[in-house]
Amino acid sequence: MPTNTPYKNILVSGGAGFIGSNFIHYWLKKYPDTNLVNLDALTYAGNLENLKEVENLPNYKFIQGNILDRQLVNEIMPGIDLVVHFAAESHVDRSILEPAVFLETNAIGTQVLLEAALKNKVKRFHHISTDEVFGSLELESDEQFNDQTPYDPRSPYSASKAASDHLVRAYGETFGLPYIITNCSNNYGEYHFPEKLFPLAITNLIEGKKIPVYGDGKNVRDWLYVQDHCSAIDAVLHRGENAETYLVGGLTEDISNLEIVKMIINLMGESEDKIEFVKDRLGHDRRYSVDWSKLNKKLDWKPDVTLEEGLTKTISWYKNNPQWWQPLKEKSQEFFKINYKQG
Ligand code: NAD
Ligand code: DAU
Repeated sequence: MPTNTPYKNILVSGGAGFIGSNFIHYWLKKYPDTNLVNLDALTYAGNLENLKEVENLPNYKFIQGNILDRQLVNEIMPGIDLVVHFAAESHVDRSILEPAVFLETNAIGTQVLLEAALKNKVKRFHHISTDEVFGSLELESDEQFNDQTPYDPRSPYSASKAASDHLVRAYGETFGLPYIITNCSNNYGEYHFPEKLFPLAITNLIEGKKIPVYGDGKNVRDWLYVQDHCSAIDAVLHRGENAETYLVGGLTEDISNLEIVKMIINLMGESEDKIEFVKDRLGHDRRYSVDWSKLNKKLDWKPDVTLEEGLTKTISWYKNNPQWWQPLKEKSQEFFKINYKQG
């Protein structure tokens, strides 16, 4: 990995969220001579507690604002040479309850950033997307997603992310905006909002509660430790080719949600009677699996952290930081009540 970078002035959108804040820590440690602006609306998922260690750095600036605010985005963009676009509504279950904001932020918000980036001739627009745009694979098949897989989004979340990917390519093809898209699998690690499976399971166990498992628990995800995602973005920013798409995945062979939950239970010394099967998610994608060999062959990237190592670190972080997640769970009670309503 390089230790210097051609980018001097970076705009990160959504940097107060889970992956964005991990990326800001990663970037400012590795490239301390760059200036980084973090534009984030601080929705329920945005949290400045994630950024305490960097908030006073002279080369870091936080701006609270919405990517839908064209005037603000146009004011911020001059002088920026790299945009790393994380800002999004990211939780599938919330997209089932309230789809509209997903379309607004994920599709229109992306277009606002693209327009301003084009006008200001940025060197690169890096769009962070998801493997969910490719739809659902069969259980027990050995099929994997790659950059040629046709789009087949099946939830309002993944449809809105697919729309954003199409818009990014459209700005590249039509107007010549230099861009790269990365579609990555399920991240986990520090600062993960406790509504997603891993942090929900870990914090529920700490609180003596059960872990809700949707449907039969056989659904499969491809799990990626968030620091490995950051190193993949780094590789792509510095060695990736313009107008390319790279898929980012982790070091997991097919492992079902139920098996993962049992692994968490084991690592935390709890008992399997803490599992509670609940009503399935609507349109629940069965299986994701990511072929990241293009990133490996072309850019020499690979994930480093095994699921067991990553989970062990993550569990210990949640055990040591209840002051971080307890208030977030408290504020999410209304959502939990509606989402986990049975019948
Ligand atoms: P997150 O929900 O933790 O954080 C999203 C951040 O975006 C929050 O800080 C929020 O305040 C901000 N935001 C939301 N709407 C905004 C708006 N209109 N204007 C400005 N800021 C806004 O999400 P995450 O898990 O960190 O995901 C980051 C990106 O990575 C998203 O684009 C997501 O689609 C993508 N992604 C996530 C995963 C994953 O496993 N978490 C996997 C693949 C791709
Ligand atoms: O694949 C990448 C995607 O991963 C990202 O694009 C999304 O932003 C991110 O939220 C994540 O989506 P998932 O829906 O896969 O993640 P989640 O943690 O919500 O769910 C993981 C799996 O666990 C999924 O099969 C649903 C299941 N699940 C989830 C919750 C919250 C449960 O069984 N019980 C639960 O309570």
